[in-house]
Amino acid sequence: MDTSGVGLQHAVGAAPYVIKPNIHELELLVGQSLPNETAIMSVARELVARGIQLVVVSMGKEGAYFVHNDATVLARPPQVVVTSTVGAGDAMVAGLVAAHLRGFALDACARLATAFSLDRVTYTGVGLAIPTSIEQLMEAVYVEERTNH
Ligand SMILES: Nc1ncnc2c1ncn2[C@@H]1O[C@H](COP(=O)(O)OP(=O)(O)OP(=O)(O)O)[C@@H](O)[C@H]1O
Ligand SMILES: [Mg+2]
Repeated sequence: MDTSGVGLQHAVGAAPYVIKPNIHELELLVGQSLPNETAIMSVARELVARGIQLVVVSMGKEGAYFVHNDATVLARPPQVVVTSTVGAGDAMVAGLVAAHLRGFALDACARLATAFSLDRVTYTGVGLAIPTSIEQLMEAVYVEERTNH
């Protein structure tokens, strides 16, 4: 589920498998600013506790938190030359779906979703670049694990 405002409020109540708000959409949802990792994680874990299996909070060039029941990772993109950030979140959602269909664990899921978004922000064409470059992008993502308590 990738939506905002009232749509996100309703969606959260239905506990979809995955949500991917950006940080501003998440702040609007909870009605408070989330200035640091502790604040973001606290909200994301509460949503996981309410039955959403994967909460992905994207933060533009700062990357994204991938919060799951038993693990959390922060995936940070390398510095890239950006052509357009339009649709970066949409590409990340496509990567989440692809990772789910492939049965990827959280770490690889974070890499693939971030690679899709990186492809989007650096690529000028329509669609995706060739799979070999997606693999190179996956390797270029910095993934840090966080403890889940
Ligand atoms: N300037 C950037 N440099 C590198 N990666 C970026 C940049 N902007 C976005 N990304 C990548 O795209 C992901 C999603 O971006 P963002 O948080 O802006 O999504 P969004 O606000 O939902 O975007 P949109 O709704 O326009 O599709 C980020 O987590 C990051 O991996
Ligand atoms: Mg978006």
